[in-house]
Amino acid sequence: MLHDLIIEGKIVNPYAIHDVQIAIDNGYITAIRKQGLKSERKIEAQRCLIFPGFIDLHAHLREDSSHKWDYKEDFKSGTAAAVHGGITTVIDMPNTPLPCISTDRLIKKKELARTEGVIDILFYGGVSDSNINTIATMQKEVIAYKIYLAETTGGLYIREDVLPKAIAAVEATAKPLVIHCEDQRVIEKVREGLKVKAHSELRPEEAELSAVKKVLAAASGDTKIKIDIAHVSVYRTLDLIGKRFHCEVTPHHLFFTKKDVQANAFLKVNPPLRSEENRLLLLAAFKSGKIDFLVTDHAPHTKEEKARAFLEAPAGVPNLDTYGNFVAWLIVHCGVPPMLIARVSAYNPAMFLGLHDRGSIEVGKRANLSILDIHKPVKISSECLYTKCKWSPFEGYEFPGAVRHVVIANCRVKNEKCKIYDMENKLKSIIDTD
Ligand code: NCD
Ligand code: ZN
Repeated sequence: MLHDLIIEGKIVNPYAIHDVQIAIDNGYITAIRKQGLKSERKIEAQRCLIFPGFIDLHAHLREDSSHKWDYKEDFKSGTAAAVHGGITTVIDMPNTPLPCISTDRLIKKKELARTEGVIDILFYGGVSDSNINTIATMQKEVIAYKIYLAETTGGLYIREDVLPKAIAAVEATAKPLVIHCEDQRVIEKVREGLKVKAHSELRPEEAELSAVKKVLAAASGDTKIKIDIAHVSVYRTLDLIGKRFHCEVTPHHLFFTKKDVQANAFLKVNPPLRSEENRLLLLAAFKSGKIDFLVTDHAPHTKEEKARAFLEAPAGVPNLDTYGNFVAWLIVHCGVPPMLIARVSAYNPAMFLGLHDRGSIEVGKRANLSILDIHKPVKISSECLYTKCKWSPFEGYEFPGAVRHVVIANCRVKNEKCKIYDMENKLKSIIDTD
């Protein structure tokens, strides 16, 4: 049989690595063999690692039907940046100008995403004081729910006294739940008492630990839903969570410290960057498999906004474009096993969300693949980014590798089979298999 496409190289699955040929037909993986498969089109990726398409559980693509924040990012630019970073599915956060807290808003966002996005965009439903009794009405449209326990970009958060009710409301939908754990009360108390206000002191480690304790107390002992603690910044949080909840870490919390923020104010982020000792402990925990997801928390703000006086500047850094470069750094410089990357960047997020058609390289799964060349050093430069905000926290840093090809089973568009993005050709050369 002549297949649509064959990819040859080292496939990295959650628990195994094999040198094989993968056959792709109609956007799905149809055969995996040592050799002997035939097709008209072939990608030879012998010097690369072929991962299941990366799934980013946590990104802020900014667009909604108000279009007020399209100047920061939109579905088109955000998903191009995602492809550049090797990400083939992205889950968009609800803290936009019209917070995503009703079915009506969600449907409008979905339509925009369907027409503009170049990869699958799925959505969180936000939980706020005003929709706590009606979140079930959104459940068909959302992949999961998001709760913020502190003020951050967009101002969508709930007070801790409604947390048990909010968790119970999500439990009734049986959908997974992601919680931003910083305790607003701790932040406010510190704000009153501090004379010199450094960001990391305004949002201290204690705020994260306190919020996680409140989630532990609020989630009933036998909660049936999956709960993910967003962007863990404090090593001790992992001990608190134990095996009770899932958790995420971001590239910036594994790479930078609060000292770096002194040199580069653009690194202001929520939760803040911490000490070097804490970073090393987080990285060690990541390597030992204690952290479930490597997420971008891609939070684009313009350079002008980030250049404001420190306390007024918005928090957040863009991370989609450089995700693959960062993964290469983890593998080459930190000795992270590629199979662990397949878990934290693809398999675990797919299982968390119940996306059983992706997350590993197997016959019958969608042909979403991220092909990473770990022997291709690149210096990060804002000119090469697809994010609309055109800057990176990693500007000027050299990483040991880069995404070379991304294959996407683009089943959203009628009759489209799959697309191959070639990074050497700046995403422009999009090869369609039809
Ligand atoms: C995020 C944003 O800008 O939307 N900012 C950030 O510093 N991480 C919001 C968030 O995830 O808290
Ligand atoms: Zn975020």
